[in-house]
Amino acid sequence: MGDEDIKIGVFVCDCGTNIAGVVDVPAVVKYARGLEHVVLADEGRWSCSVDYLSKMQDLIRENKINRVVVASCTPRTHEPLFKRTTKEAGVNPYLLEFVSIREQVSWVHMKEPAIATEKAKDLVKMGVAKAALLEEGQEIRLPVKTDCLIIGGGMAGMNAALSVADQGFNATIVEKEPQLGGLLNQICFISHDNHKRPAARVVQAKAEQVQSHPQITVFVDTQVETVEGYIGNYKVALKSNGNVSPQKLDISTIIVATGMQEIKPEGQFEYGNDPRVITQLQLDNKLRNKHLRNVKNVVMVSCVNSKNESRGCCNIGCHTAVKNAIAIKHLCQEASVHILYRDMSLIKEEGTAQQLAKRLGVKFLRFPDDRYPEVRKENGDLKIKVYDLLVGKEFELSSDLIVLTTAFKGNASVGQVKGLLKVSTNPDGFFQESHVKLGPLEFATDGVSLGGCAKAPMTFKESSEAGIGSAMKASIPMQKGYIETEGIVADIDLTDCSQCGLCSKRCPYSAIKVDEEENPEVIKALCKGCGLCAADCPNECIGIVHYSDDQVFAQVEAALEESAEKKIIAYVCHWCALGGVDMAGVSRLQYPSNARLIRVMCSARVSMKMMQRPFELGAAGVLVAGCEFPTCHYIEGNYAAEKRLKRAHKKLAKAGFDPEKLWNVWCSAADGPKFANTMRTMISELKLE
Ligand code: FES
Repeated sequence: MGDEDIKIGVFVCDCGTNIAGVVDVPAVVKYARGLEHVVLADEGRWSCSVDYLSKMQDLIRENKINRVVVASCTPRTHEPLFKRTTKEAGVNPYLLEFVSIREQVSWVHMKEPAIATEKAKDLVKMGVAKAALLEEGQEIRLPVKTDCLIIGGGMAGMNAALSVADQGFNATIVEKEPQLGGLLNQICFISHDNHKRPAARVVQAKAEQVQSHPQITVFVDTQVETVEGYIGNYKVALKSNGNVSPQKLDISTIIVATGMQEIKPEGQFEYGNDPRVITQLQLDNKLRNKHLRNVKNVVMVSCVNSKNESRGCCNIGCHTAVKNAIAIKHLCQEASVHILYRDMSLIKEEGTAQQLAKRLGVKFLRFPDDRYPEVRKENGDLKIKVYDLLVGKEFELSSDLIVLTTAFKGNASVGQVKGLLKVSTNPDGFFQESHVKLGPLEFATDGVSLGGCAKAPMTFKESSEAGIGSAMKASIPMQKGYIETEGIVADIDLTDCSQCGLCSKRCPYSAIKVDEEENPEVIKALCKGCGLCAADCPNECIGIVHYSDDQVFAQVEAALEESAEKKIIAYVCHWCALGGVDMAGVSRLQYPSNARLIRVMCSARVSMKMMQRPFELGAAGVLVAGCEFPTCHYIEGNYAAEKRLKRAHKKLAKAGFDPEKLWNVWCSAADGPKFANTMRTMISELKLE
C-alpha cells in the first residue's frame, strides 16, 4: 500500500465527563484532523455504546478508512470490543491502535485541563504515527482434540477430571503420591459441622467416582517428566516412581492442580525443638489418627508467617483453627482450648462455627499485630505469654500442645511444573494466573488452565469449585475443536541473520527452532509475542507484529517532536505495569504530565536502541516499567529487561548520555501509587518541575 492510500480514522471519546470534563475533546479532534493520513476524526459521547459503535462502523465504511485510532479509556478492558467493531467494519483488527486518554490523562491530570489537552493531543499524534505503519495480522487457528491431562489428583484435580470426562472428553490424572486425595489425605474433617464424616470418606467417595469413570485414566506414584508442543498438540512423557514402564501421551489441554504445602515455622515458638509444638496440619493428622485423647491445654497461635511484609493473609487459617478447635472439643470435652489471633477473617458459615466453638468453651484472645505471643519452657512445661488486646493485660497460659496456624506455599513440584509448562509463579510460591480478574483460571500459555490450591490457599469448597472452573476453561477449545491465538508473534527476516542462534536460546517458550541449515524459525503456535528475541537480536532481524521497531520509533519521534527536553518516554508492559498505570487513574492519583507512555507487551521488548533513541531526540528521561519480580506474564521477561537495563546504563554513558536519566519501575497491577510516585520522583530528580 502506498503512503497516499493510508486513510486513518481517529475516534476520540468523551467518556461522558470522564474525559471531556478535563480534556478539551473538540480541540483534540480538530488537532487530529490536521495529522498526516487522517481522513476523519470524530468525537463520541460514549464511544463504547452500541449506537456509537454502529456509527463508527458507518464512518469507517463511508470514508474507506483502513487504519483506526481510538482514543478513550484503557486497552486492557476495551481493546477487544473496538477490535471486533473494526473487524466487522471490514478493517483488519491489527490495524487498530488504542490510545488511553482517560487513565493516562483526564483522571491523573484533573487540575490541569490545558496540559491534559496537550498530552491527549500528543498521545493521539503518537497513535496516528504508529497506525500509519501498522500491518495486517491474523489470529492463528490450531486444531484441538479431546485429551486433557490433569497434573495433581487432589480434590481440585479429581473434580476437574470428572467435569472434563462428563462432557465426553478423555481425562488423564497424574498424581505423584501413591494415592488420590492430595492434602485431604492429611486432614481430619473438612469443616466444623461434619465431624461425623471424615475427610478420608469424602476422598474415598470421590476417588471411586474417578476410578470407575470410563473416560478417566489415573496414574498414581507418577510424575510428568517432559512436555513438548502446544495446545492441541502436546507430547507428554510420564515417569513412574515405581517400576512401571514410562508412558507417552498425546494431549490437547492441560490442567495444573498441584495443590499446596504448609510453610514449616523455622525455630519459631519452639517449633522443631519441642514435639508439643506442631502445625495445624500435624494436628489434623493427630485428630485423624485419634492420637489426642489425653490432651489438656491446647493453645493455637494464628498468623504464623503470614500477614507480614512478605506475604498476605493465608486465607484459610482462621477457618482451620476454629474447625480444629471444635474437633478437639468433640474428642476431649474437658480440654481447654485457646485461639490466640490477630484478626478473625471468617465468612458467614464460619462465623457460625466460631459461635459454636465459643459455646463449646473455646477461648479467643486477640493479640496486637506487633506483639506476637512468646513461648518458653519452664521445668519442662510449655508456657505461652500473650497480651490480650481487649482486656489490655498480659496473660501466661500453660500448654501441653501448641498449634501454629501457618502460611502455605505452592506444592514442592511447582518449580518443576513451571519449567515444563513455561508458566509463571508469584512471590508466594504459587502459580500465577494470567490475569486476576480477566483470566483467573488460566495461564498466559494457551491450553493450560489452573485449578485449586495451586493458585492460592483455598477451602475445600473453593478448591473443588476452582477445579471444576479450570475444567470448563480447558473444555472450551476441546468443545470447539480449535483455538485461535493472538497474532502478536515474532517474525524473522533472514536477510541479515548471522545464524548466531541467540533468539532460539533467549525465547522463554522455546518457540524459535533452528533448522538443519542453522536458520531460526518461529513456531507461531508457541510464540507469545513478548518481544525478548527481537530486542536481543544483534542484527535486528526480528519484528513483532503490532510492536515492530519502526512502529515504536514512530511513536517516540511523534512524542518528542516538540518540547522533547520536558518529556519522558515511558515504555510500559501491557500487564502489571499498565495495570498499575490504570490503577493510578482509577484511584485519581495526580502526578506530573511529562510522560508519554508507549505500550509494549513485556518490558523484555524494550531494546537498547529503544532506550537510547529518545535521548538522541532530546528527551528528558526514559522509563521502563514492567511487572514486579518474580511475576512476568512471559515467565522471566522482566529479569531479561533488568539485565538489559544494566547494560544500557553503560552503553548510554559511552554514547555521551546521562545514564541517570534512564529509570525503571517494577510494579504490580494494583500498584497505582508506585507508578504515580515514580513519576513524581523522576520529575523532581530530573528537575523538570
Ligand atoms: Fe510485564 Fe513481562 S509482562 S514485565
